[in-house]
Formats: sequence, C-alpha cells, structure tokens
Amino acid sequence: MGENIKPYTYKVSLKDRRHSNNHNSFLIWFTGLSGSGKSTIANLVEQRLFELGVKTYVLDGDNIRKGINKDLSFSPDDRTENIRRIAELAGLFIDAGLVVLAAFVSPYKKDRANIKSIVKDINFVEVFVNTSLEECERRDVKGLYKKARAGEIKNMTGISAPYEEPENPDVVIMTEGESIADSVEKIIRYIEPKLALNDE
Ligand code: ADX
Repeated sequence: MGENIKPYTYKVSLKDRRHSNNHNSFLIWFTGLSGSGKSTIANLVEQRLFELGVKTYVLDGDNIRKGINKDLSFSPDDRTENIRRIAELAGLFIDAGLVVLAAFVSPYKKDRANIKSIVKDINFVEVFVNTSLEECERRDVKGLYKKARAGEIKNMTGISAPYEEPENPDVVIMTEGESIADSVEKIIRYIEPKLALNDE
C-alpha cells in the first residue's frame, strides 16, 4: 500500500516556520519512573520557555492516554505502541515549528531509541528524571505503588515491570539531591544553544 502514498510538498516549509517563530524546533523527552517529577519539571521548563517567547507544546500521560492512546494498556507491546505514536505526534509538532516537551515513563531503551530515529537525533533531547523507586514510592502521589504492592495493578513500572535506565542521557535530574529550580535551570542551559536558528 505504501508505494501508492506520495507526500505532497507544501509551500510553507519547516524552515519558514522556524524563521517566523525565530527559534528552532525540537523535542525534549522526559523519562523516569511514575512519580519521579517529569510532569512537574516539564511544566516549569515550559513556563520558562513561554516567558522567553518560545512556542511550545506539552505531551503527557493525561492528554495522550485519555485521548489518542486510550486503546492502549501497560503491556510491553502497548507501551511500545504508546511511545511510537507519541514520537510520531512529536515529529508533527516539530514540523509545525514548536519546542515539544514530552513526559512519559518510556521504560524501554529500544522504544526511546525509536523516538530518536522517528524525530531524528538532532531534534531529540533526552532528560532522565532520576528519582529512586524508594522516593517515588514514598511520594506515591497517585496511590499507584500502594495498589501495585497489593497486587491490584499489574505491570507497574519499578514493581512488576522493568525500567531500563538511559545510558547516555543529555541531562540527568536528581530530584532528591537538587532543588527544582536548579533542575529547571540545568535544562534551560542545555537547550538554550539549540534554540538558536542555524540556517540548514
Ligand atoms: S509508558 O510506560 O507507556 O511510557 P505512560 O507515561 O504513558 O507510560 O503512563 C504512565 C502513567 O500511567 C504513570 O505516571 C501512572 O500515573 C499511570 N499508570 C497506570 N498504570 C501504570 C503501570 N502499570 N505502570 C506505570 N504507570 C502506570
């Protein structure tokens, strides 16, 4: 079927959109355990970018798993499909000229490698929110760890499903050892040079 699909070349290009926004577009991907602080940090980073006049959009569990991915469970295959669709969406938003922030557990290395190939290496910034399982479980913001320990939730990342830590993330956030303001600052400093337009 694929051979019958021919992309149409639209006149307004990615380059035009980036120039109109006066900044580059790319994806900032937050990975880490449930309750590690991904959404909190993504939220603050987005606010900082917004103040700088950067056009942004956030993809995270609530707006994705309740909408476009509501047919998916937490089985390994469904998580792979969850991440694949999100990466495709992120690719479209990058093409629209936005800085996309995505906060997902994304526990499998191969799925995160796949995001990189979908959006291209150069458009991918990986942020590992490295909060220990003990601390996530202590916070248990959504009460999920308690339920998982009681056997009421299956495939819970960290308890009954694996989390494969990134080997070479661009930024590592240690929410137990540094202030949230420092974490946000670290990410902003890393991405600032990437915002500058390079005439590709
Ligand atoms: S992912 O593994 O496919 O990337 P995703 O980030 O979309 O996961 O969703 C994770 C969120 O769903 C968690 O923050 C948590 O609130 C909720 N959740 C519900 N069940 C599970 C589970 N079995 N494992 C992990 N998270 C779960």
